[in-house]
Amino acid sequence: MKRLLVTGAGGMTGAEVSEQANAFGWKVRPLTRENLDITDASAVDDAIAEFHPHVVVNCAAYTAVDRAESEPDIAEAVNAGGARNLARAAARVDAPIIQISTDYVFDGQSREPYDIDSPTAPIGVYGRTKLGGEQAVMEENPAAVIVRTSWVFSHRGANFVRTMLRLGSERDELKVVNDQTGRPTSAADLGGALLQVANTVYENRSAAGIYHFANEGEVTWFQFAEAIFEEARSRGSAKSPRVVPIPTSEFPTPAKRPAYSVLDTTSFTNRFKLTPRSWRSALRDMIDHAFRDTLAVSQ
Ligand SMILES: NC(=O)c1ccc[n+]([C@@H]2O[C@H](COP(=O)([O-])OP(=O)(O)OC[C@H]3O[C@@H](n4cnc5c(N)ncnc54)[C@H](OP(=O)(O)O)[C@@H]3O)[C@@H](O)[C@H]2O)c1
Repeated sequence: MKRLLVTGAGGMTGAEVSEQANAFGWKVRPLTRENLDITDASAVDDAIAEFHPHVVVNCAAYTAVDRAESEPDIAEAVNAGGARNLARAAARVDAPIIQISTDYVFDGQSREPYDIDSPTAPIGVYGRTKLGGEQAVMEENPAAVIVRTSWVFSHRGANFVRTMLRLGSERDELKVVNDQTGRPTSAADLGGALLQVANTVYENRSAAGIYHFANEGEVTWFQFAEAIFEEARSRGSAKSPRVVPIPTSEFPTPAKRPAYSVLDTTSFTNRFKLTPRSWRSALRDMIDHAFRDTLAVSQ
């Protein structure tokens, strides 16, 4: 049976890839940070030599965008150094690596969707170290596939949808920025897309290269927040705050974020024969899941 090694398996994306892998025909080894710290090169070598995967999916990353500004060395060690360790070890057993990257490799000044060939110009430490990860992986592993994604949400982990639902239950009013635009992406859909990539590269190395995957449609964080509360209300949630649009200048954060980071996913669809569904449809499924979890806890 074909073998898939997944790092960062405790995170939003890694958990989805791990859970869905069997259905895509893989024997999976899901390694959380506790099982494998990707900055430890010899532990990475041992894990790969022992399981001998056919494909590696690196879902491990330093994802704390604001904290990265004050911890650039740690972010670099994980996002670039850890990715390099994995890509190199995977190449030794002739396994392609699938590396997840981010819309934050772009500066956000564009007014039209970013294509895979658009020039990168990260404006913060997180984006810079993720771009370093892309370059390291491509240097070390000739069969590597980079999948950039954006605005990931899930029924688990720290993400915007869960933060909104929590804050919404505590406050009457929420201020949300209305001048940053992107494509929200469900971790569940991303997980399936990554497994589709894994199946393709297992058969055919010519898929190597950079792709973009995100759910269809673009919104601002404010519009996304409004949709989240609409969905929550339609499921009978009594707690629905007033959402107030504000400019980024009223919500200063340590890291600057791209104002416009919409990813063009055309090349992903053409190569992997998968058209992303709308973010709204994916959001509905995620909120259904979150409400089911809440019900299960309260019963
Ligand atoms: N979240 C987004 O909006 C977003 C957007 C674009 C791209 N991405 C990319 O998507 C990928 C998956 O991230 P995610 O969204 O699923 O975020 P996540 O939930 O934060 O998952 C990242 C996982 O990596 C783990 N990790 C951190 N340092 C590690 C290390 N040294 N060794 C092994 N594991 C380590 C984390 O463990 P701890 O929790 O213990 O730190 C966490 O489980 C990443 O490459 C990220 O850059 C995410």
